[in-house]
Amino acid sequence: MPILVIIPAAGTGSRFGGDIPKQFQALAGKPLLQHVVERFLFHQDVVRVVVAVSEQLLPAVSQTALDRVQFVSGGATRLQSVTRAFREAQDEFDLVAIHDAVRPFFADATFRAVADAAAESGAALPGLKVADTIHTVRDGFLDLTLDRTTLIAAQTPQCFRREVLDDVLRKAEDGGDDATDEAGLAARYGVKVKIVPGDTINFKITRPDDLALAETIYARWSEA
Ligand code: C5P
Repeated sequence: MPILVIIPAAGTGSRFGGDIPKQFQALAGKPLLQHVVERFLFHQDVVRVVVAVSEQLLPAVSQTALDRVQFVSGGATRLQSVTRAFREAQDEFDLVAIHDAVRPFFADATFRAVADAAAESGAALPGLKVADTIHTVRDGFLDLTLDRTTLIAAQTPQCFRREVLDDVLRKAEDGGDDATDEAGLAARYGVKVKIVPGDTINFKITRPDDLALAETIYARWSEA
């Protein structure tokens, strides 16, 4: 089934610090974003990878002419960046995969599993069981303890049938809704979102220490 991949990469990466947004930090000498794009391009089902970047960076990144890769200007929020990328894609595709630019270690098997699950049920994401006990906090004090047996940590790639995502993004626009991931938004509108097993190695590079860990993992992968 033809798949469109959307990578929202228009954020400033403020948690990482420094001048370069985290998605452009180097891993083994190559920007994280490039690692991610190249991993998707290995898949023959991927008709195009659309990357949303900030308006300032668009002219520079657009110079990297890569077959099946398109850069678009992002919006004010992640969701707006995803929406713009989706609306600008002109290709024939049945499924859409949305992936964080800073998760270079997603497994091919996970991508295939979410794509298959979305083709069947409309929407799917990789979810990781939560090992820590999670508390909510109020004014600096522990407020509530959540039942961790009911929790998962959301990962990407998250996958949707084209018409499902189209409907979800339209509803969010109409209602002025926002979300930190599209699977949660879909569920909010009543879509049944299938959860496939996530993977600890598919972590989100968020802080400088994560990058050091990523270098170690990458070196081990390259040896294998
Ligand atoms: O801040 P957070 O890590 O949740 O951002 C998730 C992703 O959304 C990042 O890859 C970031 O670059 C992207 N983003 C975007 N457009 C924005 C804000 C964030 O594409 N306006």
